[in-house]
Amino acid sequence: MPSLLKPDYPRIPAHVGIIMDGNGRWARRKNQTRTQGHLEGLNTAKRIVKTASDMGISFLTLYVFSTENWKRTAEEVGFIMGLVKRYLAAEMDFYRKNRIRIRHTGAAEGLPPEIAREIQAACEETKVFEGLQVILALNYGGRDEIVRAVRRILGTPEATETAGFSSRISEELIRQNLDNPDVPDPDLIIRTGGEYRISNFLLWEGAYAEYYFSDRLWPDWTEEDFAAAIRNFAERDRRFGDVKK
Ligand code: FPP
Repeated sequence: MPSLLKPDYPRIPAHVGIIMDGNGRWARRKNQTRTQGHLEGLNTAKRIVKTASDMGISFLTLYVFSTENWKRTAEEVGFIMGLVKRYLAAEMDFYRKNRIRIRHTGAAEGLPPEIAREIQAACEETKVFEGLQVILALNYGGRDEIVRAVRRILGTPEATETAGFSSRISEELIRQNLDNPDVPDPDLIIRTGGEYRISNFLLWEGAYAEYYFSDRLWPDWTEEDFAAAIRNFAERDRRFGDVKK
């Protein structure tokens, strides 16, 4: 029997990215602090990870902290970093039970060393799990990731030793040097919170993603909202620049 978690749609996305927006506005509407909003946002993230895992989605990238988010107050930045740590510690049993693999995208060297260590440990411990892969975009910017890829390419001996190396620069070579080259491009990118922009999220990878915008603030997002986005995706006609046969 089809259900919310086992829909009989013709296809479900293999990789979903989410821009989890609206924590601050949610808090303001409730006369609470912004940190309360992020705390509630963390609970939503837990709910949606479980839903994605139950639905059989293979990859879920969550935009937790962007390269631009450092502009926020030290208190807010510190709180979000603390939430990441708390999330990893609190959910480890859940990952083990559900065989969920944790990964990171973004600049690890710019993170507080303790957080970088915790993420590294969670990635290491879960790397053999074959269920859902949750990719935490933390200290992440799409442009920054492309710069990192170019630097990786130019840092190889071939780049310095091969005459005419520039002719070898290709889309495929850049792709292979992104943070997680084995992860397929996102099929669906969701943004909550009523803004219609990409905010430097998965710029390279999202070239052919389907986009889904929801006015609902992230802390209010439910399993049903996620299922509605997946259903909407199933109804889209993806042509990748081709024409309909
Ligand atoms: C955007 O809302 C949200 C963030 C910048 C932080 C996202 C963090 C979480 C949801 C918690 C951590 C999650 C995990 C998985 C560790 P905003 O603050 O920009 O909201 P606003 O636009 O309403 O001000």
